[in-house]
Amino acid sequence: MTAALKAGLIGLGSMGRHHARVLMALEGVDLVGVVDPMGDKNGWAQGAPVLRDVEELLDVGIDYAVVACPTGLHEEIGLRLADAGVCVLIEKPLADSVEGALRLVHAFESRGLVAGVGHIERCNPALRSLRDRLREGELGDLYQIVTRRQGPFPHRIADVGVVKDLATHDIDLTAWMTGRSYVSIAAHTVSKSGRPYEDMVSAVGRLSDGTMVNHLVNWLSPLKERFTSVTGERGCLIADTLTADLTFYSNASVATEWEALRAFRGVSEGDMIRYAIPKREPLLVEHELFRDAVQGLSADICTLRQGLRTVEVAASLLDSARTGRTVVFEREESIPRGV
Ligand SMILES: NC(=O)c1ccc[n+]([C@@H]2O[C@H](COP(=O)([O-])OP(=O)(O)OC[C@H]3O[C@@H](n4cnc5c(N)ncnc54)[C@H](O)[C@@H]3O)[C@@H](O)[C@H]2O)c1
Repeated sequence: MTAALKAGLIGLGSMGRHHARVLMALEGVDLVGVVDPMGDKNGWAQGAPVLRDVEELLDVGIDYAVVACPTGLHEEIGLRLADAGVCVLIEKPLADSVEGALRLVHAFESRGLVAGVGHIERCNPALRSLRDRLREGELGDLYQIVTRRQGPFPHRIADVGVVKDLATHDIDLTAWMTGRSYVSIAAHTVSKSGRPYEDMVSAVGRLSDGTMVNHLVNWLSPLKERFTSVTGERGCLIADTLTADLTFYSNASVATEWEALRAFRGVSEGDMIRYAIPKREPLLVEHELFRDAVQGLSADICTLRQGLRTVEVAASLLDSARTGRTVVFEREESIPRGV
């Protein structure tokens, strides 16, 4: 039997509390310390020792760390962990700037350390099933992907706007689900909450296979919505990642008898199927995959390089909103491998 991996958690806020819960129960892993300068005022540390800073955690000795502190600190803390030879799972978005994300990619790749980004939507059962179905060709050619991610304002997020905080989910899941990269993006943003950052965005883009993409994301809606639809030549798949439901709306294959409808030469409505899919907790799946990767097993984690690409698309979306121009990506890969 191999020894349990020693894991540390950095940041015990609204996301960190869930990491602590999952890490404490994760098979093959011991949660040996939690770092938060505010301590454990809510009793979320699950009995793990609560430490003042990353240096104290490194003194304990860890195989990997989960970084769940505010986004603006990901780079500094990630670089310190890379320097100490520790593997990391960094919460999304990887960093608050393209340059910071790039420095993290270099730091971990150059040392051969396992590192991933917590783009948790990849572990949502509805999106995992959707991705499998796209790979099997259930929809045929893809035409369009639409995501909507709306909800009320989260007062705790103060260091980034809704593009870096929420739209990065949509950018990552779109590229991951289709296996395609963005070739262009354009967007409008508004800022209604009086803060320096945007709180609403509407984006339109194109993927490398020509698929059209739309993202509507905001913190200004009382309605909480997490919607992804993929429309293709055989119908439409819709994932609700709040309920983890996946529904297929098929194009009708039977010829319609009704003359008035027959005149319309587009698609017509066929059967609607809500798939029965096993619903495992996405955060547990994310942790299992990352643990396996640290153990040297083959595991489909979100790499730092993929996290960097998402940060680049998010930055371009903000550039487009500022300049009023569409951003066209010259290359699919931002940096050559092995740099
Ligand atoms: N994957 C997801 O769905 C998801 C959801 C929410 C948040 N997040 C990400 O998780 C990160 C944290 O977000 P949150 O909502 O938990 O924020 P939060 O403000 O609730 O928690 C952040 C915690 O980090 C602590 N902290 C601050 N400085 C620190 C330091 N130097 N070292 C250690 N801890 C420090 C704070 O005291 C706080 O407890 C962000 O990057 C965010 O984008 C991801």
